[in-house]
Amino acid sequence: MIAAESHPVLRSSPYQGYVYAYPHKTAYRSLHPRPLRAVWAEEDQRSLFLYVHIPFCTMRCGFCNLFTTAQPHEDLVTWYLEALGQQLHAVREAIPDAHFARFAIGGGTPTYLSEQQWAHLFDQMQTVMGVDPHSVPTSVECSPDTLTNEKVKLLKSRGVERVSIGIQSFVETETVNCGRPQSQAVVAAALNLLAEAQFPVLNIDLIYGLPGQTVDSWLYSLRQALSYQPQELYLYPLYVRPLTGLGRSCKQWDDVRLSCYRVARDQLLDIGYDQVSMRMFRCRRGDFPKNDISSYSAETSDRPHYCCQTDGMVGLGCGARSYTRSLHYSFDYAVAPRSIKRIITDYLTRCRAEFARVEHGFQLNDDEQKRRYLLQSILNTEGLDIARYRERFGSNPVDDLPDLATFADFGLLTCDGRRWQPTALGLERSDALGPWFFSPQVRHLMAEYEAQ
Ligand SMILES: C[S@@+](CC[C@H](N)C(=O)[O-])C[C@H]1O[C@@H](n2cnc3c(N)ncnc32)[C@H](O)[C@@H]1O
Ligand code: SF4
Repeated sequence: MIAAESHPVLRSSPYQGYVYAYPHKTAYRSLHPRPLRAVWAEEDQRSLFLYVHIPFCTMRCGFCNLFTTAQPHEDLVTWYLEALGQQLHAVREAIPDAHFARFAIGGGTPTYLSEQQWAHLFDQMQTVMGVDPHSVPTSVECSPDTLTNEKVKLLKSRGVERVSIGIQSFVETETVNCGRPQSQAVVAAALNLLAEAQFPVLNIDLIYGLPGQTVDSWLYSLRQALSYQPQELYLYPLYVRPLTGLGRSCKQWDDVRLSCYRVARDQLLDIGYDQVSMRMFRCRRGDFPKNDISSYSAETSDRPHYCCQTDGMVGLGCGARSYTRSLHYSFDYAVAPRSIKRIITDYLTRCRAEFARVEHGFQLNDDEQKRRYLLQSILNTEGLDIARYRERFGSNPVDDLPDLATFADFGLLTCDGRRWQPTALGLERSDALGPWFFSPQVRHLMAEYEAQ
Protein backbone atom coordinates (compact mmCIF):
# COMPACT_ATOMS: atom_id res chain seq x y z
CA MET A 1 0.00 0.00 0.00
CA ILE A 2 1.23 3.51 -0.86
CA ALA A 3 1.58 6.26 1.81
CA ALA A 4 -2.01 6.82 2.88
CA GLU A 5 -2.20 10.58 2.75
CA SER A 6 -0.89 11.12 -0.73
CA HIS A 7 -4.01 10.62 -2.86
CA PRO A 8 -6.52 13.49 -3.27
CA VAL A 9 -9.40 11.17 -2.35
CA LEU A 10 -7.74 10.68 1.03
CA ARG A 11 -6.62 14.28 1.45
CA SER A 12 -9.89 15.95 0.53
CA SER A 13 -13.12 16.00 2.53
CA PRO A 14 -14.69 12.53 2.71
CA TYR A 15 -18.01 14.24 1.93
CA GLN A 16 -17.79 15.32 -1.71
CA GLY A 17 -21.14 13.98 -2.84
CA TYR A 18 -23.54 11.09 -2.41
CA VAL A 19 -23.45 9.00 -5.58
CA TYR A 20 -26.86 7.33 -5.46
CA ALA A 21 -27.17 7.48 -9.21
CA TYR A 22 -24.79 8.21 -12.06
CA PRO A 23 -24.94 10.60 -13.74
CA HIS A 24 -26.53 13.04 -11.31
CA LYS A 25 -29.70 14.81 -12.46
CA THR A 26 -27.77 18.09 -12.68
CA ALA A 27 -26.02 16.58 -15.71
CA TYR A 28 -29.35 16.05 -17.51
CA ARG A 29 -30.25 18.48 -20.27
CA SER A 30 -33.07 19.11 -22.74
CA LEU A 31 -33.18 16.47 -25.45
CA HIS A 32 -34.66 16.43 -28.89
CA PRO A 33 -38.06 14.80 -28.07
CA ARG A 34 -38.11 11.01 -28.59
CA PRO A 35 -41.07 8.66 -28.41
CA LEU A 36 -41.02 6.56 -25.25
CA ARG A 37 -41.80 3.46 -27.29
CA ALA A 38 -38.63 3.93 -29.35
CA VAL A 39 -36.53 4.63 -26.25
CA TRP A 40 -37.50 1.25 -24.76
CA ALA A 41 -37.77 -0.75 -28.00
CA GLU A 42 -34.34 -2.39 -27.82
CA GLU A 43 -34.33 -2.89 -24.06
CA ASP A 44 -34.76 -6.11 -22.13
CA GLN A 45 -38.08 -5.46 -20.37
CA ARG A 46 -38.36 -8.72 -18.43
CA SER A 47 -37.14 -7.43 -15.10
CA LEU A 48 -37.62 -3.71 -14.52
CA PHE A 49 -37.87 -1.53 -11.44
CA LEU A 50 -41.02 0.57 -11.15
CA TYR A 51 -40.68 3.75 -9.11
CA VAL A 52 -43.43 6.23 -8.27
CA HIS A 53 -42.53 9.65 -6.87
CA ILE A 54 -44.88 11.52 -4.52
CA PRO A 55 -43.44 15.04 -4.14
CA PHE A 56 -45.40 16.12 -1.05
CA CYS A 57 -44.49 16.56 2.61
CA THR A 58 -45.98 18.13 5.71
CA MET A 59 -42.91 20.36 6.07
CA ARG A 60 -39.80 21.22 4.12
CA CYS A 61 -36.93 20.12 6.37
CA GLY A 62 -34.04 22.56 6.52
CA PHE A 63 -31.50 20.07 5.18
CA CYS A 64 -33.52 18.37 2.46
CA ASN A 65 -32.68 18.68 -1.21
CA LEU A 66 -35.16 16.14 -2.49
CA PHE A 67 -37.74 16.99 -5.10
CA THR A 68 -40.74 17.80 -2.92
CA THR A 69 -43.11 20.54 -1.86
CA ALA A 70 -44.54 21.16 1.60
CA GLN A 71 -48.21 21.58 2.54
CA PRO A 72 -49.59 21.42 -0.98
CA HIS A 73 -53.18 22.50 -1.53
CA GLU A 74 -55.56 19.53 -1.47
CA ASP A 75 -56.49 20.19 -5.11
CA LEU A 76 -52.85 20.07 -6.15
CA VAL A 77 -52.54 16.56 -4.72
CA THR A 78 -55.75 15.46 -6.48
CA TRP A 79 -54.58 16.91 -9.81
CA TYR A 80 -51.16 15.35 -9.35
CA LEU A 81 -52.66 11.90 -8.91
CA GLU A 82 -54.85 12.47 -11.97
CA ALA A 83 -51.79 13.43 -14.02
CA LEU A 84 -50.00 10.37 -12.66
CA GLY A 85 -52.91 8.27 -13.95
CA GLN A 86 -52.43 9.80 -17.41
CA GLN A 87 -48.71 9.13 -17.33
CA LEU A 88 -49.31 5.56 -16.19
CA HIS A 89 -51.44 4.82 -19.24
CA ALA A 90 -49.05 6.58 -21.61
CA VAL A 91 -46.12 4.56 -20.26
CA ARG A 92 -48.00 1.27 -20.36
CA GLU A 93 -48.98 1.88 -23.97
CA ALA A 94 -45.32 2.48 -24.81
CA ILE A 95 -44.08 -0.65 -22.99
CA PRO A 96 -47.09 -3.00 -22.96
CA ASP A 97 -45.06 -6.14 -22.27
CA ALA A 98 -42.75 -4.80 -19.57
CA HIS A 99 -42.51 -6.94 -16.45
CA PHE A 100 -41.66 -5.42 -13.09
CA ALA A 101 -39.49 -7.22 -10.57
CA ARG A 102 -39.36 -4.44 -7.95
CA PHE A 103 -41.69 -1.61 -6.98
CA ALA A 104 -41.00 1.41 -4.78
CA ILE A 105 -42.99 4.47 -3.84
CA GLY A 106 -40.80 7.29 -2.61
CA GLY A 107 -40.72 11.03 -2.19
CA GLY A 108 -41.12 13.36 -0.60
CA THR A 109 -43.40 11.53 1.75
CA PRO A 110 -45.75 9.06 0.04
CA THR A 111 -47.72 8.56 3.26
CA TYR A 112 -48.79 12.19 2.92
CA LEU A 113 -51.52 10.68 0.70
CA SER A 114 -54.83 9.70 2.26
CA GLU A 115 -55.93 6.08 2.59
CA GLN A 116 -58.37 6.50 -0.32
CA GLN A 117 -55.61 7.89 -2.50
CA TRP A 118 -53.35 4.99 -1.54
CA ALA A 119 -56.02 2.42 -2.31
CA HIS A 120 -56.60 3.99 -5.73
CA LEU A 121 -52.87 4.13 -6.45
CA PHE A 122 -52.39 0.44 -5.64
CA ASP A 123 -55.42 -0.47 -7.77
CA GLN A 124 -54.06 1.47 -10.72
CA MET A 125 -50.63 -0.08 -10.38
CA GLN A 126 -52.18 -3.50 -10.44
CA THR A 127 -54.65 -3.00 -13.29
CA VAL A 128 -52.47 -0.86 -15.56
CA MET A 129 -48.90 -1.90 -14.76
CA GLY A 130 -49.59 -5.44 -13.55
CA VAL A 131 -47.83 -4.78 -10.26
CA ASP A 132 -49.25 -6.43 -7.15
CA PRO A 133 -47.13 -5.90 -4.02
CA HIS A 134 -48.09 -9.38 -2.85
CA SER A 135 -45.91 -10.81 -5.60
CA VAL A 136 -43.56 -7.93 -6.47
CA PRO A 137 -41.28 -6.81 -3.59
CA THR A 138 -42.53 -3.35 -2.71
CA SER A 139 -41.02 -0.57 -0.63
CA VAL A 140 -42.75 2.56 0.70
CA GLU A 141 -41.18 5.65 2.30
CA CYS A 142 -42.95 7.37 5.15
CA SER A 143 -42.50 9.97 7.88
CA PRO A 144 -43.65 9.78 11.51
CA ASP A 145 -46.16 12.64 11.27
CA THR A 146 -48.06 11.14 8.34
CA LEU A 147 -48.58 7.60 9.64
CA THR A 148 -51.92 6.48 10.99
CA ASN A 149 -53.06 3.09 12.12
CA GLU A 150 -55.35 2.85 9.07
CA LYS A 151 -52.59 3.69 6.60
CA VAL A 152 -50.24 1.16 8.17
CA LYS A 153 -52.95 -1.51 7.98
CA LEU A 154 -53.61 -0.67 4.37
CA LEU A 155 -49.92 -0.94 3.41
CA LYS A 156 -49.69 -4.23 5.24
CA SER A 157 -52.86 -5.70 3.74
CA ARG A 158 -51.78 -4.68 0.24
CA GLY A 159 -48.59 -6.73 0.65
CA VAL A 160 -45.94 -4.04 1.09
CA GLU A 161 -42.71 -5.74 2.11
CA ARG A 162 -40.48 -2.87 3.17
CA VAL A 163 -41.38 0.32 4.97
CA SER A 164 -38.74 3.00 5.35
CA ILE A 165 -39.24 5.77 7.87
CA GLY A 166 -37.22 8.96 8.20
CA ILE A 167 -36.47 9.69 11.85
CA GLN A 168 -33.13 11.52 11.48
CA SER A 169 -32.64 11.96 15.24
CA PHE A 170 -34.33 10.92 18.48
CA VAL A 171 -33.25 14.17 20.13
CA GLU A 172 -35.89 16.88 19.79
CA THR A 173 -33.48 19.85 19.94
CA GLU A 174 -31.44 18.33 17.11
CA THR A 175 -34.43 18.00 14.82
CA VAL A 176 -35.54 21.53 15.69
CA ASN A 177 -32.01 22.82 14.94
CA CYS A 178 -32.01 21.25 11.50
CA GLY A 179 -35.40 22.63 10.57
CA ARG A 180 -37.45 19.49 11.15
CA PRO A 181 -39.39 20.05 14.35
CA GLN A 182 -40.58 16.62 15.36
CA SER A 183 -42.19 15.43 18.57
CA GLN A 184 -40.67 12.31 20.08
CA ALA A 185 -44.13 11.18 21.11
CA VAL A 186 -45.16 11.19 17.43
CA VAL A 187 -41.95 9.35 16.51
CA ALA A 188 -42.56 6.65 19.14
CA ALA A 189 -46.20 6.24 18.10
CA ALA A 190 -45.25 5.83 14.42
CA LEU A 191 -42.48 3.36 15.14
CA ASN A 192 -44.74 1.34 17.43
CA LEU A 193 -47.38 1.14 14.71
CA LEU A 194 -44.79 -0.13 12.23
CA ALA A 195 -43.26 -2.56 14.70
CA GLU A 196 -46.69 -3.99 15.56
CA ALA A 197 -47.56 -4.42 11.89
CA GLN A 198 -44.44 -6.60 11.46
CA PHE A 199 -43.52 -5.74 7.93
CA PRO A 200 -40.86 -8.14 6.69
CA VAL A 201 -38.47 -5.18 6.50
CA LEU A 202 -38.47 -2.04 8.58
CA ASN A 203 -35.86 0.54 7.63
CA ILE A 204 -35.02 3.57 9.76
CA ASP A 205 -33.18 6.62 8.37
CA LEU A 206 -30.92 8.57 10.72
CA ILE A 207 -28.65 11.54 10.02
CA TYR A 208 -25.29 12.27 11.67
CA GLY A 209 -23.45 15.57 11.72
CA LEU A 210 -26.57 17.55 12.66
CA PRO A 211 -26.13 20.96 14.29
CA GLY A 212 -25.68 20.49 18.03
CA GLN A 213 -25.27 16.72 17.73
CA THR A 214 -22.39 15.02 19.55
CA VAL A 215 -21.03 11.51 19.16
CA ASP A 216 -22.82 10.61 22.41
CA SER A 217 -26.17 12.02 21.32
CA TRP A 218 -25.72 10.26 17.97
CA LEU A 219 -25.20 6.96 19.75
CA TYR A 220 -28.32 7.66 21.80
CA SER A 221 -30.32 8.02 18.56
CA LEU A 222 -28.79 4.86 17.18
CA ARG A 223 -29.70 2.91 20.34
CA GLN A 224 -33.25 4.22 20.21
CA ALA A 225 -33.56 3.14 16.57
CA LEU A 226 -32.19 -0.31 17.41
CA SER A 227 -34.80 -0.78 20.13
CA TYR A 228 -37.35 -1.16 17.28
CA GLN A 229 -35.28 -3.98 15.79
CA PRO A 230 -35.10 -2.60 12.24
CA GLN A 231 -33.99 -5.04 9.58
CA GLU A 232 -32.24 -2.15 7.86
CA LEU A 233 -30.71 1.15 8.86
CA TYR A 234 -29.70 3.96 6.56
CA LEU A 235 -27.20 6.26 8.26
CA TYR A 236 -26.77 9.47 6.30
CA PRO A 237 -24.01 12.02 6.87
CA LEU A 238 -25.64 15.43 6.79
CA TYR A 239 -25.25 17.16 3.47
CA VAL A 240 -26.15 20.75 3.10
CA ARG A 241 -26.84 21.89 -0.41
CA PRO A 242 -27.23 25.36 -1.84
CA LEU A 243 -30.81 26.67 -1.69
CA THR A 244 -31.91 24.35 1.10
CA GLY A 245 -32.65 25.98 4.46
CA LEU A 246 -29.41 25.09 6.26
CA GLY A 247 -27.14 25.86 3.31
CA ARG A 248 -26.72 29.42 4.35
CA SER A 249 -25.49 28.89 7.88
CA CYS A 250 -23.95 25.42 8.23
CA LYS A 251 -20.19 24.55 8.37
CA GLN A 252 -18.54 21.34 7.29
CA TRP A 253 -18.24 18.92 10.17
CA ASP A 254 -16.01 16.32 8.65
CA ASP A 255 -14.39 15.13 11.85
CA VAL A 256 -17.64 14.76 13.75
CA ARG A 257 -19.24 13.00 10.82
CA LEU A 258 -16.34 10.61 10.47
CA SER A 259 -16.36 9.82 14.20
CA CYS A 260 -20.13 9.26 14.16
CA TYR A 261 -19.82 7.00 11.14
CA ARG A 262 -17.07 4.92 12.69
CA VAL A 263 -18.71 4.37 16.08
CA ALA A 264 -22.03 3.45 14.49
CA ARG A 265 -20.41 1.11 11.98
CA ASP A 266 -18.41 -0.65 14.69
CA GLN A 267 -21.44 -1.08 16.95
CA LEU A 268 -23.67 -2.36 14.17
CA LEU A 269 -21.09 -4.85 12.95
CA ASP A 270 -20.62 -5.99 16.57
CA ILE A 271 -24.30 -6.68 17.16
CA GLY A 272 -24.95 -8.59 13.95
CA TYR A 273 -25.61 -6.16 11.14
CA ASP A 274 -23.86 -6.48 7.79
CA GLN A 275 -22.60 -3.37 6.07
CA VAL A 276 -24.03 -3.15 2.55
CA SER A 277 -22.62 0.28 1.69
CA MET A 278 -21.38 3.38 3.48
CA ARG A 279 -24.96 4.27 4.42
CA MET A 280 -26.76 0.97 4.55
CA PHE A 281 -26.69 -1.71 7.22
CA ARG A 282 -28.81 -4.86 7.13
CA CYS A 283 -29.36 -7.33 9.93
CA ARG A 284 -28.13 -10.83 9.20
CA ARG A 285 -30.89 -13.16 8.09
CA GLY A 286 -33.01 -14.57 10.86
CA ASP A 287 -31.77 -12.18 13.52
CA PHE A 288 -35.26 -10.92 14.24
CA PRO A 289 -37.29 -14.12 13.89
CA LYS A 290 -40.63 -12.56 14.80
CA ASN A 291 -40.71 -10.89 11.39
CA ASP A 292 -40.69 -13.14 8.38
CA ILE A 293 -37.57 -12.01 6.61
CA SER A 294 -36.91 -15.48 5.22
CA SER A 295 -38.11 -14.26 1.85
CA TYR A 296 -36.08 -11.09 2.05
CA SER A 297 -32.97 -11.68 0.06
CA ALA A 298 -32.79 -10.80 -3.59
CA GLU A 299 -29.88 -13.19 -4.02
CA THR A 300 -31.45 -16.36 -2.67
CA SER A 301 -35.16 -16.01 -3.18
CA ASP A 302 -37.11 -17.43 -6.09
CA ARG A 303 -38.90 -14.13 -6.61
CA PRO A 304 -38.24 -11.95 -9.65
CA HIS A 305 -34.64 -10.80 -9.53
CA TYR A 306 -33.63 -7.21 -10.25
CA CYS A 307 -30.03 -6.24 -10.92
CA CYS A 308 -29.31 -2.56 -10.39
CA GLN A 309 -26.26 -2.53 -12.68
CA THR A 310 -28.03 -3.83 -15.73
CA ASP A 311 -31.81 -3.78 -15.36
CA GLY A 312 -33.80 -0.69 -16.22
CA MET A 313 -36.04 1.55 -14.19
CA VAL A 314 -39.35 3.13 -15.11
CA GLY A 315 -40.04 6.24 -13.06
CA LEU A 316 -43.52 7.71 -12.77
CA GLY A 317 -44.42 11.07 -11.32
CA CYS A 318 -42.70 14.39 -11.27
CA GLY A 319 -39.13 14.06 -9.98
CA ALA A 320 -38.79 10.38 -10.87
CA ARG A 321 -35.94 9.20 -13.05
CA SER A 322 -36.05 6.40 -15.61
CA TYR A 323 -33.07 4.39 -16.83
CA THR A 324 -32.51 2.39 -19.95
CA ARG A 325 -29.00 1.10 -20.69
CA SER A 326 -28.07 4.14 -22.70
CA LEU A 327 -30.56 6.83 -21.75
CA HIS A 328 -31.42 8.28 -18.36
CA TYR A 329 -34.35 10.66 -18.33
CA SER A 330 -36.74 12.56 -16.08
CA PHE A 331 -38.63 15.81 -16.01
CA ASP A 332 -36.76 19.00 -15.22
CA TYR A 333 -35.00 19.13 -11.84
CA ALA A 334 -34.85 21.83 -9.15
CA VAL A 335 -34.20 22.32 -5.44
CA ALA A 336 -35.69 25.76 -4.73
CA PRO A 337 -39.36 25.62 -3.63
CA ARG A 338 -40.59 28.03 -6.31
CA SER A 339 -38.92 26.09 -9.14
CA ILE A 340 -40.25 22.78 -7.79
CA LYS A 341 -43.78 24.21 -7.82
CA ARG A 342 -43.30 25.40 -11.40
CA ILE A 343 -42.15 21.96 -12.52
CA ILE A 344 -45.06 20.25 -10.73
CA THR A 345 -47.51 22.68 -12.35
CA ASP A 346 -46.00 21.87 -15.72
CA TYR A 347 -46.46 18.15 -14.97
CA LEU A 348 -50.15 18.70 -14.14
CA THR A 349 -50.88 20.33 -17.47
CA ARG A 350 -49.37 17.58 -19.64
CA CYS A 351 -51.61 15.49 -21.80
CA ARG A 352 -51.18 11.77 -22.38
CA ALA A 353 -49.34 12.32 -25.68
CA GLU A 354 -46.79 14.52 -23.89
CA PHE A 355 -46.16 11.77 -21.36
CA ALA A 356 -45.35 9.43 -24.23
CA ARG A 357 -42.14 11.22 -25.12
CA VAL A 358 -38.79 11.91 -23.51
CA GLU A 359 -37.51 15.47 -23.46
CA HIS A 360 -34.94 15.76 -20.71
CA GLY A 361 -32.09 13.45 -19.80
CA PHE A 362 -28.61 12.16 -20.48
CA GLN A 363 -27.38 9.84 -23.22
CA LEU A 364 -24.78 7.37 -21.94
CA ASN A 365 -22.11 6.34 -24.42
CA ASP A 366 -20.04 3.20 -23.88
CA ASP A 367 -17.62 4.93 -21.51
CA GLU A 368 -20.43 6.43 -19.40
CA GLN A 369 -22.19 3.05 -19.21
CA LYS A 370 -18.99 1.49 -17.87
CA ARG A 371 -18.57 4.24 -15.30
CA ARG A 372 -22.15 3.82 -14.19
CA TYR A 373 -21.79 0.04 -13.88
CA LEU A 374 -18.64 0.51 -11.83
CA LEU A 375 -20.24 3.10 -9.53
CA GLN A 376 -23.29 0.90 -8.98
CA SER A 377 -20.90 -1.87 -7.88
CA ILE A 378 -17.75 -0.75 -6.13
CA LEU A 379 -19.45 1.40 -3.49
CA ASN A 380 -21.26 -1.68 -2.19
CA THR A 381 -19.57 -4.39 -0.17
CA GLU A 382 -20.70 -6.95 -2.73
CA GLY A 383 -18.43 -5.19 -5.19
CA LEU A 384 -17.91 -5.55 -8.92
CA ASP A 385 -18.01 -9.04 -10.39
CA ILE A 386 -15.34 -9.08 -13.11
CA ALA A 387 -16.92 -11.94 -15.09
CA ARG A 388 -20.30 -10.17 -15.23
CA TYR A 389 -18.67 -6.92 -16.28
CA ARG A 390 -16.83 -8.80 -19.02
CA GLU A 391 -20.06 -10.40 -20.14
CA ARG A 392 -21.70 -7.00 -20.44
CA PHE A 393 -18.84 -4.97 -21.96
CA GLY A 394 -16.40 -7.55 -23.34
CA SER A 395 -13.49 -5.97 -21.47
CA ASN A 396 -11.68 -6.00 -18.15
CA PRO A 397 -12.77 -3.21 -15.76
CA VAL A 398 -9.23 -2.27 -14.80
CA ASP A 399 -8.29 -1.81 -18.47
CA ASP A 400 -11.25 0.51 -18.91
CA LEU A 401 -10.79 2.41 -15.65
CA PRO A 402 -7.17 2.06 -14.49
CA ASP A 403 -7.92 4.14 -11.38
CA LEU A 404 -9.22 0.90 -9.87
CA ALA A 405 -5.62 -0.29 -9.56
CA THR A 406 -4.51 3.07 -8.16
CA PHE A 407 -7.16 2.86 -5.44
CA ALA A 408 -6.08 -0.69 -4.62
CA ASP A 409 -2.56 0.69 -4.12
CA PHE A 410 -3.94 3.29 -1.73
CA GLY A 411 -5.91 0.70 0.25
CA LEU A 412 -9.37 1.88 -0.78
CA LEU A 413 -10.25 -1.10 -2.99
CA THR A 414 -9.20 -4.70 -3.14
CA CYS A 415 -9.35 -7.34 -5.89
CA ASP A 416 -9.10 -11.10 -5.47
CA GLY A 417 -9.08 -11.72 -9.22
CA ARG A 418 -12.84 -12.25 -9.38
CA ARG A 419 -14.22 -9.13 -7.75
CA TRP A 420 -13.33 -5.53 -6.98
CA GLN A 421 -14.56 -4.57 -3.52
CA PRO A 422 -14.27 -1.54 -1.26
CA THR A 423 -12.12 -1.90 1.87
CA ALA A 424 -13.26 -0.43 5.20
CA LEU A 425 -11.31 2.71 4.25
CA GLY A 426 -12.91 2.73 0.80
CA LEU A 427 -16.40 2.46 2.31
CA GLU A 428 -15.92 5.40 4.64
CA ARG A 429 -14.51 7.41 1.71
CA SER A 430 -17.33 6.37 -0.65
CA ASP A 431 -18.49 9.96 -1.12
CA ALA A 432 -15.03 11.01 -2.29
CA LEU A 433 -14.19 7.80 -4.17
CA GLY A 434 -17.42 7.78 -6.18
CA PRO A 435 -17.14 11.31 -7.63
CA TRP A 436 -13.56 10.52 -8.69
CA PHE A 437 -14.98 8.20 -11.37
CA PHE A 438 -17.23 10.85 -12.91
CA SER A 439 -16.31 11.51 -16.53
CA PRO A 440 -14.97 14.93 -17.55
CA GLN A 441 -18.21 15.50 -19.49
CA VAL A 442 -20.42 14.80 -16.45
CA ARG A 443 -18.22 16.97 -14.22
CA HIS A 444 -18.48 19.77 -16.73
CA LEU A 445 -22.29 19.52 -17.02
CA MET A 446 -22.70 19.36 -13.23
CA ALA A 447 -20.46 22.39 -12.74
CA GLU A 448 -22.31 24.27 -15.46
CA TYR A 449 -25.71 23.51 -13.93
CA GLU A 450 -27.19 26.50 -12.25
CA ALA A 451 -29.11 25.63 -9.11
CA GLN A 452 -32.70 26.77 -9.52
C1 LIG B 1 -37.56 10.58 1.22
S1 LIG B 1 -36.75 10.92 2.74
C2 LIG B 1 -37.49 9.84 3.88
C3 LIG B 1 -38.98 9.86 4.18
C4 LIG B 1 -39.66 11.07 4.76
N1 LIG B 1 -39.77 12.10 3.76
C5 LIG B 1 -39.05 11.62 6.02
O1 LIG B 1 -38.26 12.56 5.91
O2 LIG B 1 -39.34 11.14 7.10
C6 LIG B 1 -35.15 10.24 2.48
C7 LIG B 1 -34.05 10.42 3.52
O3 LIG B 1 -32.94 11.14 2.96
C8 LIG B 1 -32.17 11.67 4.02
N2 LIG B 1 -31.73 13.04 3.66
C9 LIG B 1 -32.44 13.95 2.96
N3 LIG B 1 -31.70 15.07 2.79
C10 LIG B 1 -30.50 14.86 3.38
C11 LIG B 1 -29.31 15.63 3.57
N4 LIG B 1 -29.21 16.87 3.09
N5 LIG B 1 -28.28 15.07 4.23
C12 LIG B 1 -28.37 13.82 4.71
N6 LIG B 1 -29.47 13.05 4.58
C13 LIG B 1 -30.52 13.55 3.94
C14 LIG B 1 -33.04 11.65 5.28
O4 LIG B 1 -32.51 10.72 6.19
C15 LIG B 1 -34.40 11.17 4.76
O5 LIG B 1 -35.05 10.36 5.68
S1 SF4 C 1 -36.59 14.92 4.73
FE1 SF4 C 1 -38.48 13.90 4.13
S2 SF4 C 1 -40.12 15.12 5.14
FE2 SF4 C 1 -38.31 16.38 5.15
S3 SF4 C 1 -38.53 17.62 3.28
FE3 SF4 C 1 -37.23 15.84 2.77
S4 SF4 C 1 -38.61 14.36 1.94
FE4 SF4 C 1 -39.88 15.88 3.05
